[in-house]
Amino acid sequence: MKFSEEFIDRVREASDLVEIVSQHVNLKKSGSGYQGLCPFHGEKTPSFSVSDVKQVYHCFGCKASGNVFKFVQDYQGLTFPETIEYLAQRAGIPLPVEEEKWQQGSDQREEKKLLYRINHYASEWFHHRLLKLEKSHPVWTYLEKRGLTEQDAKNYKLGWTSANWSDLSESLVRKNAPIDLAEKLGLIKKRNKGSGHFDLFRSRLMFPIYSPTEKCLGFGGRVLGDEHPKYLNSPDSDVFHKGQVFYGLNWSAKHIRSQDLAIVVEGYMDWIALDKAGISNVVATLGTALTEKHARLIRRYTSNVLVLFDGDSAGQSAAERSLPILLRGGLFVKGLFLPEGMDPDDFLKKEGVKALNQKIQTAPDLFSLLVEAEVRKMGSNPSDKTKTIEKMAPLLDAVSNPSLKELYLESLANMLNVDKSVIPVNRGSAGSSFGGSSHFAGGRGRGPSRGSRGPHPSERSRVQESAPAPANSRPENQSFNLKGASRLEIELLNVSLLKSVYLEEVLNSSVLEYMESEGVKKVFEELERLYRQDPSRFDTLPSLLSSKVDPGEAVTLHLTSPFQSLTEESARKLIQDCIKRLHEKFLRSQSRALMNNLKGSQGLDQKNKLEQIMNIQRDRREIKKDQKTKDQSSSIQEPNANE
Ligand code: UTP
Ligand code: MN
Repeated sequence: MKFSEEFIDRVREASDLVEIVSQHVNLKKSGSGYQGLCPFHGEKTPSFSVSDVKQVYHCFGCKASGNVFKFVQDYQGLTFPETIEYLAQRAGIPLPVEEEKWQQGSDQREEKKLLYRINHYASEWFHHRLLKLEKSHPVWTYLEKRGLTEQDAKNYKLGWTSANWSDLSESLVRKNAPIDLAEKLGLIKKRNKGSGHFDLFRSRLMFPIYSPTEKCLGFGGRVLGDEHPKYLNSPDSDVFHKGQVFYGLNWSAKHIRSQDLAIVVEGYMDWIALDKAGISNVVATLGTALTEKHARLIRRYTSNVLVLFDGDSAGQSAAERSLPILLRGGLFVKGLFLPEGMDPDDFLKKEGVKALNQKIQTAPDLFSLLVEAEVRKMGSNPSDKTKTIEKMAPLLDAVSNPSLKELYLESLANMLNVDKSVIPVNRGSAGSSFGGSSHFAGGRGRGPSRGSRGPHPSERSRVQESAPAPANSRPENQSFNLKGASRLEIELLNVSLLKSVYLEEVLNSSVLEYMESEGVKKVFEELERLYRQDPSRFDTLPSLLSSKVDPGEAVTLHLTSPFQSLTEESARKLIQDCIKRLHEKFLRSQSRALMNNLKGSQGLDQKNKLEQIMNIQRDRREIKKDQKTKDQSSSIQEPNANE
């Protein structure tokens, strides 16, 4: 859905960044803002600053920065429209209704809301049923046998459905709930004979399945014994699509992001066992094959995935099927097979978490793993090798990263002991890679602790923000490129954002003429426009700009301590100093250009140019003289700043 600028502004104004960050980060008052441990990279000393006045955040460790939208987008892995929707709902602002589809649109939305509400009601109902039961009840015995406590049942909102045929149906009727919608959700069904409805989940341990924003989408229900089916899942509905949903993602998203790896398992119980053991960057499929939508969902949080499947042939073939899908999704895929007959839950119980962590850390690429298995299975004569090549070559075509493709090709050739020219491979870029161009592109990993791992949060969301909404001139998508800006220009920009008097001082100087970076110049022009429109909104400028500039940290640097500790006097000195230096740089490049030009000119033209050069040199000398008489140490050096 497309939102108007006004609506976006309303949501921004109604959403307090400090409050939202505080839900996930322990913030402490510090100076004029707040500080805490950065949620976007692992750290032990706080380098994450949040300003309540300016409504922006900045981490001087990993350079994550932005406004409230950016935070929610990156932290919860939501797209921009989802973020607006989430924050609007949180602030109690009704979503705008699309004009032309008013009737249908509003009905659909209303219906979806009701579906979520019914699921939510059911999940509470099941959960309370379970908590109410005596500890001697078979379901508690079962939970205990599987190593789950009452606290676990609470944490994962586990539930219980009794053997009674109409527990939930009757309760829904009593509550006047829309019964037809409960039917659509697969919770209840109309009786063939007689009137009324009956419950579809009976005598089952219930696992509610949530969206990343904690809406209840559906359920999985397990029998306690050996009856069939072992698990009954909610059928697909308007709010539940098994091929697009992971169990556990609502709890694991932040861990996947901070560890930059998503581990995929196949079962509810495996997910819970891993989470309990402290391995929390995990998602579970719902008994269906992995899909492109799944891959895309993972890509919101990380580009690294590890497929952790059972050691049996079913697990192996599921992994085989998932590999091309994950590769096509632009993911780096590792694989781990557990010993025959063991699933992750069994393995943890038998070998312990240390052993599993060890295996996870040393897991090889799934591609290599599958090739190895294939080579082991087949003989080493030419026809066997050809068959292996025929099986593996399509996987190569699924790789979207050209370097990775080449390396896989080489390793396949090596393992088969053949020349790589006999392996047919399409060297063009593979089908659809969403948002993830080349992972090996230079210039990544600016933060000291990120190294060569996945894309930086700011880059990730840039991809999201610009990709799905082309032709949309929403200001959120407009972008100022500050990548080539000098440190001087960025410093000047950030001092200007501290106080309106500083901004005025800068705008009243002629420094805009001397700017080297076209982007910085444009940002100042935009600042001027917004500020002149309504000077009382000065403090909102960083937050407004942060989603438009690239990198966003260029307008949040002022939250860091060197800027925060500037006195009025030193700030003004810094401004004047920056202006002078930029002027000087400008003159230098002008005179250089004239010098180059001089060679080709003659007569009067040459004389004019010489004169100009001399004037410029004089100006430069004056600036320099002026500079020397003043204290020159006013330039700011930010921690970790690299020019
Ligand atoms: P598993 O049988 O491996 O699940 O099936 P599990 O979680 O390890 O089960 P137990 O409790 O330890 O025995 C993997 C997933 O496949 C789906 C479920 O989502 C399950 O978690 N499944 C399995 C079904 O949907 N229906 C079934 O009958 C069985
Ligand atoms: Mn199991």
